[in-house]
Amino acid sequence: MDRSPNWQKISRIVGPCIRPGGHLLTERALELCSIPPGSRIADIGCGAGGTLEYLERTGDYSLVGLDCSESLLRNATTRLKTGCLIQSRAELLPFKQGAFDALFCECVLSTLVDRTTALGEFARVIDGNGFLIVSDVLAQDHPGQTGLGGESQCISTNGFLAKSEILELLKRFGFSIFLWEEHERLAKEFAARMILAGAGLPDGWGCGPKQNGKNPVRLIYFLLLARKSAIAVQSIEN
Ligand SMILES: C[S@@+](CC[C@H](N)C(=O)[O-])C[C@H]1O[C@@H](n2cnc3c(N)ncnc32)[C@H](O)[C@@H]1O
Repeated sequence: MDRSPNWQKISRIVGPCIRPGGHLLTERALELCSIPPGSRIADIGCGAGGTLEYLERTGDYSLVGLDCSESLLRNATTRLKTGCLIQSRAELLPFKQGAFDALFCECVLSTLVDRTTALGEFARVIDGNGFLIVSDVLAQDHPGQTGLGGESQCISTNGFLAKSEILELLKRFGFSIFLWEEHERLAKEFAARMILAGAGLPDGWGCGPKQNGKNPVRLIYFLLLARKSAIAVQSIEN
């Protein structure tokens, strides 16, 4: 049985950006990366096309959106003038090596079972020096424990996305991370919106069943910017 969340239904509640904060973190990422006009950008797990529509409006980019859901892609088609939409999976990208200058992956990794394969694919299709922009939801299972900068620690279990997992995998695939930010307020606003609409949070977004009698984990929404070094491309190839 397919247990993946009904993103189409969630999109009817929160709009074309099926994530906390709408375009806010997309906008912030674009500003910090200064992606030049003409860049080739992929949005992996593009859903209903909210980010692609925003990118189409704000910059002169060559855009590709990929998602596994036919119905969400149909929805995305209605809001885009240009760009190419492909039905496929993040774990097996139908693109050549180095096909993109930047890749967005917003609230998708947390929903995947095989994140290693997906991140390996991202490393393959991003050109040397290209950007990887990830925003997603983490579940922290020991609330209150924070690092020096107030950021969450790397602890998570039971299939939830963990900070340690993503940092380790990015390093393995030759990415250097130059920004990690946590946006708790946006996560809370999203959660409140879902609850007021009579819906729960999607599975894996910190609202799982009680574990060992304890309440579920705390939700952390983060933005991560990373860059692939040209040297790392070579070492993956060899
Ligand atoms: C939370 S929604 C985010 C959609 C979009 N990135 C956004 O922020 O509005 C997760 C999306 O990931 C897509 N997805 C889930 N598993 C996938 C996979 N293995 N490959 C490609 N897309 C996937 C879903 O269909 C859905 O559109």
